Amino acid sequence: MGILAPSILSADLSDLAGQIRLAEIGGADWIHCDVMDGHFVPNLTFGPIVVSAAKRATKLPLDVHLMIEKPDKYLEDFVEAGADYLTVHFEADVHLNRTISRIKELGVKAGVSINPATPINSLNDIAEYVDLLLIMSVNPGFGGQRFISNSLRRIKEAVELREKLNANFLIEVDGGVSNKNIKMIKDAGCDVFVAGSSIFKSGNISAAAAELKNLII
Ligand code: DX5
Ligand code: ZN
Repeated sequence: MGILAPSILSADLSDLAGQIRLAEIGGADWIHCDVMDGHFVPNLTFGPIVVSAAKRATKLPLDVHLMIEKPDKYLEDFVEAGADYLTVHFEADVHLNRTISRIKELGVKAGVSINPATPINSLNDIAEYVDLLLIMSVNPGFGGQRFISNSLRRIKEAVELREKLNANFLIEVDGGVSNKNIKMIKDAGCDVFVAGSSIFKSGNISAAAAELKNLII
């Protein structure tokens, strides 16, 4: 069964707890938090304060996706705020092995995320150390973008990499996931499905989450 991780980037943050509750009713498994710094990506969102508010609003695991430069400077802050999975970008960190080790030392699951134009085999020497490999299926920065179609091939490459390394990381896909493509994404080998606008901008958060959840059973 696939793991559904609604992204609060597209939620109405004036009622964060209520919006998360509706996603939970629909069958959300994790809550995805998109942290953006205006440098690594051309947008600013929120930091540990909002992550800790999400933590107080739910018992579901928090899946924190750092789209920030120098992520190693902020690991403790996000773990303290309540991250259960903490993911940094391959492109944002020149000492990735050290950062992944540090995240694990802090007692949470470690993820690495990869942009659409970075070859999956760039992760050859880090993948065996991570708990989660997050494949961006849009260029990170904004919700509501169109799914980049070669992401399906990239998911398959990640599955092959996992087999080759005899590793057991989860494969997560983020960006442009909807009821139109989630089945294809699952068939390609994805384990964790992030969905922002297709849930929170749908007009019926619980029903939209339930529909996606049904498609990944
Ligand atoms: C994009 C973020 C995504 C975003 C996905 O940079 O990392 O998590 O919320 O939003 P949708 O599902 O609307 O593409
Ligand atoms: Zn994300």
